[in-house]
Amino acid sequence: MQVVERTFIAIKPDGVQRGLIGEIIKRFEVKGFTLVGLKLLNVSRELAEEHYSVHRERPFFAGLVEFITSGPVVAMVWEGDGVVASARQIIGATNPLTANPGTIRGDFGVNIGRNLIHGSDAVETAQREIALWFKDEELVNWSPTISKWLY
Ligand code: TYD
Repeated sequence: MQVVERTFIAIKPDGVQRGLIGEIIKRFEVKGFTLVGLKLLNVSRELAEEHYSVHRERPFFAGLVEFITSGPVVAMVWEGDGVVASARQIIGATNPLTANPGTIRGDFGVNIGRNLIHGSDAVETAQREIALWFKDEELVNWSPTISKWLY
């Protein structure tokens, strides 16, 4: 089966704590993307540090790792044409105060350190992050267009 573009999305502990899992998943689902991986997990310090390794030297790094490991995270892989860039639009700007209304961060957030959700910033980053968070066998190859039995 041909693999179309995929991106890594994570609902951070604040999104889980605030009961926004369903609302956030809905936005990707109604847009028309396909969910191919999904799990709820407590993130280890090792995984958090590796995931955010590009920010290792930044002043917010320690707090970011502390936050991501502070409660459950929903890790997901979404698939579809142009999903990496489109998901970034659905998510909105890093700082929720400047994120446009209609985006997830613009609608639900106020604090850059509590911005609810992560989305890969490029196709290559997505490949790295998917491999970091998911085993191959945790990803499901399926397409809604070949499932006639639901309609
Ligand atoms: P970054 O990769 O720049 O943003 P994005 O999540 O939009 O791709 O930063 C990663 C996370 O680090 C960001 O979601 C929130 C946190 N962060 C801060 O806490 N303070 C900051 O000044 C920045 C730039 C990011």
